[in-house]
Amino acid sequence: MQSSLQLIKNDLSPKLHVAIIMDGNGRWAVSRGLPRIAGHRVGAEAVRRTVTACPSLGVGTLTLYAFSSDNWRRPSAEVNALMRLLKIFMRKEIANSLKNGVRISVIGRRDRLSSSVLNAIETAERATINGQTLHLRIAIDYSAREAILRAAKRLSENPSNYQSLNQGTFSQLISDSAQTSAPDVDLLIRTSGEQRLSDFLLWECAYAEFFFTNRMWPDFDANDLASAVNNFLARDRRFGGLSKVAAS
Ligand code: IPE
Ligand code: IPE
Ligand code: MG
Repeated sequence: MQSSLQLIKNDLSPKLHVAIIMDGNGRWAVSRGLPRIAGHRVGAEAVRRTVTACPSLGVGTLTLYAFSSDNWRRPSAEVNALMRLLKIFMRKEIANSLKNGVRISVIGRRDRLSSSVLNAIETAERATINGQTLHLRIAIDYSAREAILRAAKRLSENPSNYQSLNQGTFSQLISDSAQTSAPDVDLLIRTSGEQRLSDFLLWECAYAEFFFTNRMWPDFDANDLASAVNNFLARDRRFGGLSKVAAS
């Protein structure tokens, strides 16, 4: 049987930006009689599979929602476990990233992270800075509304920026740095059947295509990503204009 991964190879749309709300870890675990944290642990394996699948699917930027600013509301045992997993992931991913040309960067607030998490993030970012094949952005303590507010504050601190303010320059202000900046999102995927943004990339998703799947994140694999990208490639993005067929 020809896999959807192979199907897509002949129809590459280069350098897509795919963003994923990796949801359903807790429900995946509870439905198996396991603690929620087990779902997060298995979810980390799904991250590895997804990152590996990206280059052959034409994905040049992958932004993963790993921890929202609202996730601090969870019980501290779960928050601590998530932070520990993020630290382990950062450390373990360096070797793989160097081998596969992956550049890791992290978006979100850094001032509330522990020094050991921060240290793991900065080490991974520094070590992988020359990766050319895939820009892997991980959103940690991330809130899109906060990111937009921060950009507005930066603007008010430096009013000369008003002169050159446009959508492009505001996009730059929203990025934490040139290092973490990325093009607008092409395809937004959310797993677990939920159909909401949960404060993820509000500005960058202005014309994103949305793909919702009932798959729980720990079960997500390369074929799921290929199905989503295939589905995206078959859509007619009009950006307010007319479809290619109607315009001709
Ligand atoms: C996503 O899975 C991971 C994080 C939000 C950190 P959840 O933990 O939200 O899983 P559900 O939605 O409770 O099943
Ligand atoms: C969004 O999922 C955040 C991440 C996947 C990291 P949540 O599970 O926290 O979102 P809500 O609360 O269901 O909207
Ligand atoms: Mg959830």
